[in-house]
Amino acid sequence: MLSFDEIDTVFQQHYFEGMGSITRGDAKFLSGLIQASQPHKCFEVGVASGMSTTFLLMALAKLGPERKLVSVDISRQYYADRSKQVGYVVDQAIPDLGCEFELHFNQWSADAETFCDDAKFDFAFIDAHHSHPWPTLDTMLLLPLVASGTWIACHDIALKDIPRFAKETGPFHIYQAFPEPKKKSTLERKNIGAFQINRRHQEYEEALLASLAQEWTVSGVIKKSFYDRIYQMVDQYYSESFAKEIRRMIEAHNLMINERRAKQKAAKQSKPDG
Ligand SMILES: C[S@@+](CC[C@H](N)C(=O)[O-])C[C@H]1O[C@@H](n2cnc3c(N)ncnc32)[C@H](O)[C@@H]1O
Repeated sequence: MLSFDEIDTVFQQHYFEGMGSITRGDAKFLSGLIQASQPHKCFEVGVASGMSTTFLLMALAKLGPERKLVSVDISRQYYADRSKQVGYVVDQAIPDLGCEFELHFNQWSADAETFCDDAKFDFAFIDAHHSHPWPTLDTMLLLPLVASGTWIACHDIALKDIPRFAKETGPFHIYQAFPEPKKKSTLERKNIGAFQINRRHQEYEEALLASLAQEWTVSGVIKKSFYDRIYQMVDQYYSESFAKEIRRMIEAHNLMINERRAKQKAAKQSKPDG
């Protein structure tokens, strides 16, 4: 496990207010989970500056050079400082990696399949889109690609308790919906948790649906490029009734958002000028 001295050295050099990264306590939780579960092949979705990636790599390096992390992010540019590339902290903090690492831009959970030719993942960390249902969709897409015994860690399970992030309920719902074994950080705001996968992915359909039944807070439609891939994955890996329900939910959400937007547009147009 990483010591607080090792964690703090990285924070002192690279942290700035508003960088949107995990905290030192979260880094301790993740490194403890890696130490306890000894994974060989890990997947991370949501890299941003690369702070969490740095700690995952440092924890994996302690297990041996053949351990591997595959990290993906939907962007190439770091959202809090667009002059920097996603993952830039990794290069600065650990120029000599002690394990294998792949970083992929413009990719998301559905792309995890691309990296599973040789073996499934045995550890995953989800810290991407926080509005509900994205963390549940990420989990759903990853479940068929993880080995039995895998811990899936989720960041920001308590984010919704901060008033300005009240709509970011995604991580909370997926953590709540999943059955034991689960772990939650005891440090700081207890904002990171993990659940262990020890059944076939189809046996989690009920938990996924329980999470998806909670109010969706994502403000826009789920775009075609995403839902086409989601439908492809659920058709391939999950039961027919589950796949049908996922389609129904996404279509109902998109219809609701489109109707709301049309009403807002009509109301704006009917307002007299000035
Ligand atoms: C909160 S930041 C990640 C912080 C990082 N884990 C850390 O602790 O340093 C969220 C990142 O997820 C990315 N993202 C948002 N939606 C995504 C999606 N659907 N798939 C993959 N990445 C996504 C964003 O571009 C952003 O870089």
